[in-house]
Amino acid sequence: MKLKSIHSVYNQDRLAKPIYNDLGQTLLNSGVILTDKMIDRLKNKGVSYVYIEDASTEDIYVEDTIHGKTRMKALKTIQGNFNTISNQMALGKSVDIDKLSPSFSNLVKEILLEIQSKKEVISMLSEVVSYDSYVFHHSLNVTVYAVALGQKVGLNQSELHDLGLGAMLHDLGKMGIPLEILNKSEELTVEEFDLIKSHASIGFDMLRKSYTLSLITAHCAYQHHERLDGTGYPRQLAGNDIHYFAKIIGIADVFDAVTSNRVYRQAMLPHEGLELLYSGAGSLFDEKLVDSFAKTVAIYPVGLEVRLSNGEEGVVAKINAQLPSRPVIRVLKDKDKNRCEKDIDLSVELNVTIIACETAIDQYKKVQ
Ligand SMILES: [Fe+2]
Repeated sequence: MKLKSIHSVYNQDRLAKPIYNDLGQTLLNSGVILTDKMIDRLKNKGVSYVYIEDASTEDIYVEDTIHGKTRMKALKTIQGNFNTISNQMALGKSVDIDKLSPSFSNLVKEILLEIQSKKEVISMLSEVVSYDSYVFHHSLNVTVYAVALGQKVGLNQSELHDLGLGAMLHDLGKMGIPLEILNKSEELTVEEFDLIKSHASIGFDMLRKSYTLSLITAHCAYQHHERLDGTGYPRQLAGNDIHYFAKIIGIADVFDAVTSNRVYRQAMLPHEGLELLYSGAGSLFDEKLVDSFAKTVAIYPVGLEVRLSNGEEGVVAKINAQLPSRPVIRVLKDKDKNRCEKDIDLSVELNVTIIACETAIDQYKKVQ
């Protein structure tokens, strides 16, 4: 299968993976032949990329990092619990996190198990997210990225559990902020931006009262927008005054935010998201953590169409876990644009590099 930008998918292309809506219901099944009408509908739903069947890449299959069933169950739990909290806040009632914390804790354990049972790098590209349920998907994705990064840097099981809970609940404070402000596509007023920023302290205030959650969880919510150089919020903490877990969650948070479709912009590809993190490495984000994160996620996801420095074009066929920046490429066009079919392993052919890949915005965009 090939991963195609929705803008370069054509009438008669055949879907290689099903597309789900937020509730886990199938919007379009794998094997469906796409029509112009369907493609327009997917564009309107905010879908950036789809997997398309293709004879020359038939044997290339993309595994989901989190099993579809686990993902849907997780989203149901997060959505249900967050909505309960949001309703309690709207009624001015105090929120009893301890009633909900066992289900969050079980969920983190399940995600941890699933990540630890896999050796591959994390790849979560094919999710369809409607704008209204963004925060639930985001909370789940940030948990997956944060726990995977935590594992990479050698945290122990109990630390990973606390980190996972901190990641899952990092944006809990947003339950007190109206959706029309969270999803506003126009520029925010200063007051609106201040209101959004308040989610860090709101979340901390809710979580620190818990008897069952570690205080670190509350601090993850409080500090995930703090930045190394003191330019973050709400307290402008700097350097080692920021908890290590909050630094991890800060990286996972930014990466998921920029690689997801939002009301105000299209999703970046993973290598672009990483580039953005690297541009802030050492100033905004811990450099060593960014380096470790680059080894945790699939920089070039399987199925992505790429152009190589030797003039050949092809599709990412396999990720090298030890060197995710240099995957195996199924070459489909030689340097003279003639059809061909061969695999080239960039972890072996070190003189060849990826110079461009297909993005949702341009047909091919140069890799910086
Ligand atoms: Fe946040």
